[in-house]
Amino acid sequence: MASIAAVLDNNSAITRRYGPGLVAVFVGGTSGIGESTARAFIRNTDASHAYLVGRDQARAAEIIRELQQMKPDAQITFIKSDVSLLREVDDACSLIQRNEDKVNILFLSPGIGTMKGRDETDEGLDRKLNLHYYSRMRFVQNLLPQLVKGADITRATESQPSLSRVVSVLEAGSEAAMNLDDLSLKTHYSLRNCAKHAITMNSVSMEHLASHYPQVSFIHSFPGIVRTRLNRDLGTVAKCAVNALVAIAKPWEIPFNESGERHLYAAASPTFPPLAYKDSSIDPAEGSDGRNGSGFYRLSSDGSTYKPSKIMERYRAEGVRSLIWNHTVSVFAHVHNKVSV
Ligand SMILES: NC(=O)c1ccc[n+]([C@@H]2O[C@H](COP(=O)([O-])OP(=O)(O)OC[C@H]3O[C@@H](n4cnc5c(N)ncnc54)[C@H](OP(=O)(O)O)[C@@H]3O)[C@@H](O)[C@H]2O)c1
Ligand SMILES: *[C@@H]1O[C@H](CO)[C@@H](O)[C@H](O)[C@H]1NC(C)=O
Ligand SMILES: *[C@@H]1O[C@H](CO)[C@@H](O)[C@H](O)[C@H]1NC(C)=O
Repeated sequence: MASIAAVLDNNSAITRRYGPGLVAVFVGGTSGIGESTARAFIRNTDASHAYLVGRDQARAAEIIRELQQMKPDAQITFIKSDVSLLREVDDACSLIQRNEDKVNILFLSPGIGTMKGRDETDEGLDRKLNLHYYSRMRFVQNLLPQLVKGADITRATESQPSLSRVVSVLEAGSEAAMNLDDLSLKTHYSLRNCAKHAITMNSVSMEHLASHYPQVSFIHSFPGIVRTRLNRDLGTVAKCAVNALVAIAKPWEIPFNESGERHLYAAASPTFPPLAYKDSSIDPAEGSDGRNGSGFYRLSSDGSTYKPSKIMERYRAEGVRSLIWNHTVSVFAHVHNKVSV
């Protein structure tokens, strides 16, 4: 567990540790946990660049105005993009790549709370599963060269280490057996399956990437209950039900501001190093495979790591892990071909 004091302490030391000029991309930075984390990032860094990716221009403008006032040396850019479409993800990434040769933090929290059934985009994928999984991994795949530059392990020193991290906010800890014959849920769609597949594929793929890109660390977090705008697309009845649940859960609610600080901790604390990074002065947290410092971490809402998951262990042993990443890459290729013809 990380106390809030330890979290704030860590966050206030980010500039001292990594230097100024960090670059962070917040996909879903116009609201909720992404917004709160972007605010904490700007508060705690100097001369940094932040990208807020989302659809709501008015909200983005308001957030940027406030942050710019607080930190005039920060450079904050809104990228208007409907990231439920992979082609728009690609456009957003090209824009970032034109401006930046490195990325230090890729923060992924785009999502919707809809309870509708399968909602197919013109790319042939379900919108919610895309927002919670495929689009996120598309950002990772596209920006890996910039993340590897962010790591710059050759230039990093003991007194000035580097930072290169991907954080995906969904529901670590709830990984479960999937339907391996229908990973994109063409015919087995249900709200439960959608959640299960999005959560489990996030963990399994990021664990795979952490072992193949040892300069970059990966985190899947469960944020706990945070009052955000996630319920905005729900009908009145569902909204009332969710509000009632949130009221009951009040004692466990994580305040908006605290959630941002906690996720900045996830994004920048040295306790979650990539596989290749060894620093004798830190005590790395337990990775998803039970080994300390193995590069992929599943974080609970209080900042502690979950015990290794049985299903992930099985998928790893049976080679399912690389099958899932291959499936993901082939979905990207399929959509890309469809778009370019
Ligand atoms: N809040 C909680 O208690 C809780 C608990 C467990 C898990 N989670 C998960 O945490 C993640 C973040 O949730 P949140 O509570 O921060 O929700 P939120 O306040 O609704 O924020 C969601 C973000 O996603 C963006 N987004 C949604 N659809 C988009 C689209 N088509 N294109 C581009 N951006 C899009 C929104 O931006 P625009 O509006 O600008 O498009 C917004 O910035 C979600 O995946 C959620 O399932 C949340
Ligand atoms: C809340 O936000 C303020 C800045 O507005 C910050 O100084 C403070 O440390 C935050 N508190 C917590 C508990 O996150
Ligand atoms: C995934 O793809 C790679 C490269 O194309 C290949 O070497 C590997 O065997 C594949 N794994 C599985 C489980 O299909």
